[in-house]
Amino acid sequence: MAITFEVIHKDIAGRVGKLRVNDKMVRTPALLPVVNPHLPLVTPREMQEMGVEALITNAYIFRRSEKFHDQAIADGLHSVLDFDGVIMTDSGSFQLSVYGEVEVSNQETLEFQQAIRSDIVVPLDIPTPPDAGRERAARELATTMERIREARELFPDANLAGPVQGGIFTDLREEAGQAVQDLGFAFAPIGAVVPLMESYRYKDLVQVVLAAKRGLSPATAVHLFGAGHPSMFALAVAMGCDLFDSAAYALFAREGRYITPHGSLKLDELAELPCPCRVCRSMTAEELRKSPDRERLLALHNLHVTLAEIARIRQAIQDGTLWELVDERCRSHPLLLNGYRELLAHAAELEQDDPVSKRRFFYRGSETCRRTEVLRFHEVIPRIPVGERVLVTFDGRETPGFDTVLNFKPPFGPYPVELAETFPVGQSEVPDWDDDMVRSGCAGLRALVEAHPESRFTVRCSDEWARIVREEVPGVEVLDEQV
Ligand code: GUN
Ligand code: ZN
Repeated sequence: MAITFEVIHKDIAGRVGKLRVNDKMVRTPALLPVVNPHLPLVTPREMQEMGVEALITNAYIFRRSEKFHDQAIADGLHSVLDFDGVIMTDSGSFQLSVYGEVEVSNQETLEFQQAIRSDIVVPLDIPTPPDAGRERAARELATTMERIREARELFPDANLAGPVQGGIFTDLREEAGQAVQDLGFAFAPIGAVVPLMESYRYKDLVQVVLAAKRGLSPATAVHLFGAGHPSMFALAVAMGCDLFDSAAYALFAREGRYITPHGSLKLDELAELPCPCRVCRSMTAEELRKSPDRERLLALHNLHVTLAEIARIRQAIQDGTLWELVDERCRSHPLLLNGYRELLAHAAELEQDDPVSKRRFFYRGSETCRRTEVLRFHEVIPRIPVGERVLVTFDGRETPGFDTVLNFKPPFGPYPVELAETFPVGQSEVPDWDDDMVRSGCAGLRALVEAHPESRFTVRCSDEWARIVREEVPGVEVLDEQV
């Protein structure tokens, strides 16, 4: 029995990987739909036919279920649910956080999860709510860590997950990630983020997840507990989250909400069903509203959309276009944009994992200037060899009388002609230049100027950009492009 994780492709801190659990394989990023055996709007068998390789269910529900308890012990979860993929069980910690105390001990839930043949077993961690103070967060984290250690000692051969808690305190989250890592976990869920996502606190979410990731090894598969809505998957994957579990497809269906990758809509307000899934293409909005099967059909649609977004993210990682997808998704809501901006604020950290070369780079507005590729380019610029008299031309024209002539491409900056075909300069598409991207390019130029105090720099650009060049790179001579 074992859990192993293999990374196949990377983009930003996101990865396409293979999670192996016992003899089963799950392609990641993966969505584990939450299955409630008492109200299966979509059956696990149907999910499997939709490409679901892993699901999650709550051990707590089985433990208390008159209908399923004995059967689960006798035949195992896979038989009860009629699903032969990976089944992860949650311990009941979520109930603990919502309803107060749960009458189950750590040892009891661990024994029960194994008795019903769960593939991934979760100890009884404590999800500390975001409004908890530091003392409480630290105390609850200590208890969570004790329970994780106890789980390891009692069941050294079990496929255990190591939840990372710590409230909203980034140092505690990093410490928790490190502690879970030190215990050798290959699978670490990040917990207690549901309230952050429910209140759209994406900036806090980014801080908490990146802190946990700093403590964890890049070789560990990271699960984001209780996430969520497909509009935030790309952001979470960019931070290095590999698995999600979501009940949103069913919860939203119950409330008559229609999920799209950008947000959700009220079915009652829809004139059209703007989605290619088989539900939406087989009926009109009016027919769906009036269908006696409406809740189930809506859940099917919601799940289709959610799974398609996961597939889109996996493709984007392989194409090296995850930043573009994050950019697109995070413009669906101002608070997601906050999360995106917070992610960009950590570009230096993300840059260490981000591939050196990608297929393309699209400029999509000022946020693009803070992406990992721009940052990395600015870091290598000081190493460009230059002579005594250096010309940086915005128009690329040949010019005699200089020892070194460099071209200029925003948002990157100056580059020697030898780099014209290489990533990112050669693979980047930018619209008509704007102030933000030229300023970013000038920051690159400034790095070059500062690295070569012995050289004399001249910039040839049109009037339009001369002011920005003078502001951003003091001390350079600016020539008019007509000269
Ligand atoms: N489901 C949502 N959040 C959590 C969490 O923090 N811990 C566990 N065990 N399950 C969850
Ligand atoms: Zn649909």
